[in-house]
Amino acid sequence: MGYYSEIYQRSLEEPEVFWAEAAEALDWHRRWGKVLDQDARPSARWFSGGELNTCHNALDRHVEAGHGERAALIYDSPVTGTQRHYSYRALRDEVAQLAGAIRAAGVGPGDRVVIYLPMIPEAAMAMLACARIGAIHSVVFGGFAARELATRIDDCQPTLLLTASCGIEPNRIIDYKPLVDEALALAEHKPRSCLIKQRPEQPAALAPGRDHGVAIGDWDEAVAAASPVDCVPVAATDPLYILYTSGTTGRPKGVVRDNGGHAVALHWSMANIYDVQAGDVFWAASDVGWVVGHSYIVYGPLLAGCTTVIYEGKPVGTPDPGAFWRVISEHGVKVMFTAPTAIRAIKKEDPAGEHCARYDLSRLQALFLAGERCDPDTLSWAQQLLERPVIDHWWQTETGWAIAANPLGIEPLPVKSGSPSRPMVGYDVRVLDDQGDERPTGAMGDICIKLPLPPACLPTLWNNDARFVEAYLTRHPGYYLSGDAGYKDADGYLWIMSRTDDVINVAGHRLSTGQIEEVLASHPDVAECAVIGVHDSLKGQLPLGLVVLKAGVERGVAELNAELIQRVRDQIGPVAAFKQVAVVSRLPKTRSGKILRGTMVKIADGQSWTMPATIDDPAILDEIAASLRALGYAC
Ligand code: COA
Ligand code: AMP
Repeated sequence: MGYYSEIYQRSLEEPEVFWAEAAEALDWHRRWGKVLDQDARPSARWFSGGELNTCHNALDRHVEAGHGERAALIYDSPVTGTQRHYSYRALRDEVAQLAGAIRAAGVGPGDRVVIYLPMIPEAAMAMLACARIGAIHSVVFGGFAARELATRIDDCQPTLLLTASCGIEPNRIIDYKPLVDEALALAEHKPRSCLIKQRPEQPAALAPGRDHGVAIGDWDEAVAAASPVDCVPVAATDPLYILYTSGTTGRPKGVVRDNGGHAVALHWSMANIYDVQAGDVFWAASDVGWVVGHSYIVYGPLLAGCTTVIYEGKPVGTPDPGAFWRVISEHGVKVMFTAPTAIRAIKKEDPAGEHCARYDLSRLQALFLAGERCDPDTLSWAQQLLERPVIDHWWQTETGWAIAANPLGIEPLPVKSGSPSRPMVGYDVRVLDDQGDERPTGAMGDICIKLPLPPACLPTLWNNDARFVEAYLTRHPGYYLSGDAGYKDADGYLWIMSRTDDVINVAGHRLSTGQIEEVLASHPDVAECAVIGVHDSLKGQLPLGLVVLKAGVERGVAELNAELIQRVRDQIGPVAAFKQVAVVSRLPKTRSGKILRGTMVKIADGQSWTMPATIDDPAILDEIAASLRALGYAC
């Protein structure tokens, strides 16, 4: 324990001393030359010259320290009725064996491996196995369609694709093989091979030979035939993984995470933010396809010697809204992490918390929420139900860990409902206006982080330094642009209010409206379109499309809407939750042709709005409002 303000101040004044101390907690093959290399381009690098292995620090280090029998991973799958426990020794052995199979598939240090797997232990094992041999993994969320998988394959050019025969959603089994086949057909780059983990719920038909030039193999057979391999030291600055996230265009950004800074910052965060120690059970109810899954299902808890939980289920419906409380009580979870939308889903089905009352939650100390702003109603409902700290914290795929949080392991700060509390160590957060000047207390602006970013934050985008610089470092020279707008209050608390770009947040998932627009615009009957994120009481936001048809198109609107919805589902995936479209005669625009998306959002959300002075044709907003009312919006 200590004092947040002192520690925070020290982290900004003496970053090299601060992070070098934090790095001592890990095993290094070779010590770093420079803690912080400010001259590196396109951005500063941490622990240059150092060598380590992330998998060694997450697994072998604990076994070698005599904790091999401690629980490392609990797989809890209500959708298959399965539970499995892995000790640190067992997990290390499985990972070493799988790493042997990956190496036998021709993967070497620096090669990429795409992982398209459901929430099964093999997903974590695959990530760690890549780390073990210095390969770079790129996990693709299972709710993305084949085209998204293909885009990522083409961008990172993997040697190997690791997948499973199926994923299991409560209402259906998702056959992965056809999706993988389609992605391999669409992708220009063909991985050398693909290993498929057969699941008994829906095995895939595996014909011997190659599909689209890719050798398809059985995961279990490949693992059985392999020899275990040891950890390979890699440079601290070498990439550990690439994780794609939505940007402002249809092309996702490949966020790069390094090995050294990532291990150091994540290890630090476990004790200081979440207040968990080796042996504690930490559960992030997310998916390995998202950054939360990377940082706090796999790497963070294991680097800290905790027990992590891989949960293959939902907050509700698997089988009921008591699912989360069951997992907490059965596995003795000390700290849980999820998205506010999951709590809203539970609250909707069990407002009085009757399911919660059935379980012993005595070992739970705190609930952390992130992925979207936690609305005050959800926060206070969870606080009253759990009678424990409920902590909103703010971060992004780009940073890999919290930019702002309430550091329970240092000093619990008073909770202010609606704010993710104060900046975390190493993050010098400033709120800037369009000219780059700092906004006064309480005034909204671009939330930026003064460079250098702390360890674990992205050093660049995969194979695209120029896009990295353009997207994050150009608007305000000397600062990282978070893409979020908000303000700082007199106590130094941050208030994250909205995005400044066209990213929307659907059930804690980050989506680009521009990307959905690209899909709609590719329909032969669509002349132009706009997609906006409208408020939804469960998912936070939902995408809504407004389309203008080409002259002469006389199709039934219902049929066309169904086609557009299916097109987004097929090309982006069900995770886009795109289910609402309206056909309109024109889109509201400024006289210079800019679509007035912000005004349409305000109309849909029933917020007060003013007629933009630059609007081309004010009458169109009446038609938009009527269309939104027809979709059920009270505007
Ligand atoms: N593979 C395939 N499809 C998937 C999928 C996966 N891994 N995950 C979700 N989908 C599908 C769902 O089945 C659903 O399909 P449908 O349109 O046929 O019903 C669609 O994608 C949308 O999924 P989701 O956003 O999960 O909505 P939902 O209505 O099924 O569930 C919640 C709503 C709130 C229960 C759910 O969104 C949830 O648990 N959210 C937690 C968010 C979270 O963990 N965020 C990560 C950041 S912390
Ligand atoms: P992702 O990269 O998918 O994690 O999404 C990051 C974005 O989600 C952020 O830039 C914010 O817009 C939003 N976000 C995540 N956590 C919070 C939070 N606690 N409060 C407000 N917005 C959040």
